[in-house]
Amino acid sequence: TASCTWQGKTFVITAGPTREAIDPVRYISNHSSGKMGYALAQAAANAGAKVVLVSGPTQLATPKGVQRIDVETAEQMLTAVQQQLTDCDVFIGCAAVSDYRVEDIAEHKIKKEQNSEPPKLSLVQNPDILKTVAQSANAPFTVGFAAETQNLKENALSKLQRKQLQMIIANDVSEPHQGFNSDQNSALILSKDSEQSLPTMSKHDMAVAIIDAIAKRYFDTSNRS
Ligand code: C5P
Repeated sequence: TASCTWQGKTFVITAGPTREAIDPVRYISNHSSGKMGYALAQAAANAGAKVVLVSGPTQLATPKGVQRIDVETAEQMLTAVQQQLTDCDVFIGCAAVSDYRVEDIAEHKIKKEQNSEPPKLSLVQNPDILKTVAQSANAPFTVGFAAETQNLKENALSKLQRKQLQMIIANDVSEPHQGFNSDQNSALILSKDSEQSLPTMSKHDMAVAIIDAIAKRYFDTSNRS
């Protein structure tokens, strides 16, 4: 991508896991490293965009030229994203958001009680950040990810429709040596009427390819849905 392709445009990108507290010392989370989202942020910035990265807890350095907002929970992530929507041309939801959070977070560390039943966690559903953005007034060009273990294309296409996205990047996470924590990935880029298959490549190269694919559709107004 030429370094000026996205000049004057703003990307908001979510990345990493969210972390949902159980008590002051424990939480529910997932295996997302944040690598794909950070690579996307870097690629968009390199292509000239202003980039805001809303990140759950990761071990990664902030990409050069990117503004990073750190959050922990899905609700915090949604709030941070919504605060950025007044200036957002493209939204990419790359975070592995916890689908559920604990209904009542214990104020103190839950103790191991002798001779009593193990505690039961009651969960409630978290907001769907991607869907909320896609369905907001003046929604940006919205891109989601779909990590699937079966019926990759079918499941991703139904997600594209259900969440009203412009584009979805589908990964088969059942394949070894890619996806979670890996530096490699392969994917299928799907929109309402186009399909592009990306072979196994580094997350860095994949990020560049995804930002290119977004540009193709974003700047081709006849293709906007
Ligand atoms: O429905 P599913 O979780 O598989 O969808 C994945 C896509 O939705 C990803 O782009 C992810 O970032 C986004 N998502 C979200 N908020 C949620 C759940 C998923 O933004 N609560």
